[in-house]
Amino acid sequence: MPIFKRVSVREFTNQKVDKKDIELILRAGMQSPSAVNQQPWEFLVCDDVDVIRDFSNQGGFARSLKTAPLVIVLYYRTNTSHQNFVMQDMGACAENCLLQVAALNLGACWMGVAPKEDRMQEVEKVFGTIDNARPFCLIAVGHPKNQQAQISRYDESRVHYYKK
Ligand SMILES: Cc1cc2nc3c(=O)[nH]c(=O)nc-3n(C[C@H](O)[C@H](O)[C@H](O)COP(=O)(O)O)c2cc1C
Repeated sequence: MPIFKRVSVREFTNQKVDKKDIELILRAGMQSPSAVNQQPWEFLVCDDVDVIRDFSNQGGFARSLKTAPLVIVLYYRTNTSHQNFVMQDMGACAENCLLQVAALNLGACWMGVAPKEDRMQEVEKVFGTIDNARPFCLIAVGHPKNQQAQISRYDESRVHYYKK
């Protein structure tokens, strides 16, 4: 089960990600549930390592991109009918992408962008804009440099059973 092996991976080998694997990750993202099936996502795929390195060298939140051979930028449409649910839709989309990455034995790290306006503008400056859309998050993808085991976070005290 990919859920029980997914961890954030922040160090990658320099091996490229296969085109067919990139497509599977995008297909998984587009299969996500969304409010009224509004599918607010747009994807920008960047495998230009010079651009990725330059961006990560600016420091800050993008440091985890440093060795990534690929970054997928998720954008959300600003003109869908149910805007108040868009952030939830995009969260599901990002997680679906991460689970497909884990299923392929690749590694990924989600980097939060929205709703921080400074990060959103930084991402647009480097990766570009998409009409009627704004950046939601970055997903660094690649072959993990080290194998990391997942640590269970199951906590029974967080589970509340309904009682009449
Ligand atoms: C909304 C969101 C924003 C995140 N932003 C960053 C980030 O900017 N940089 C980073 O290295 N990891 C980021 N992460 C990854 C988390 O740090 C990571 O999921 C958390 O520490 C749990 O570890 P795990 O993913 O290995 O289970 C983010 C995750 C989420 C869901």
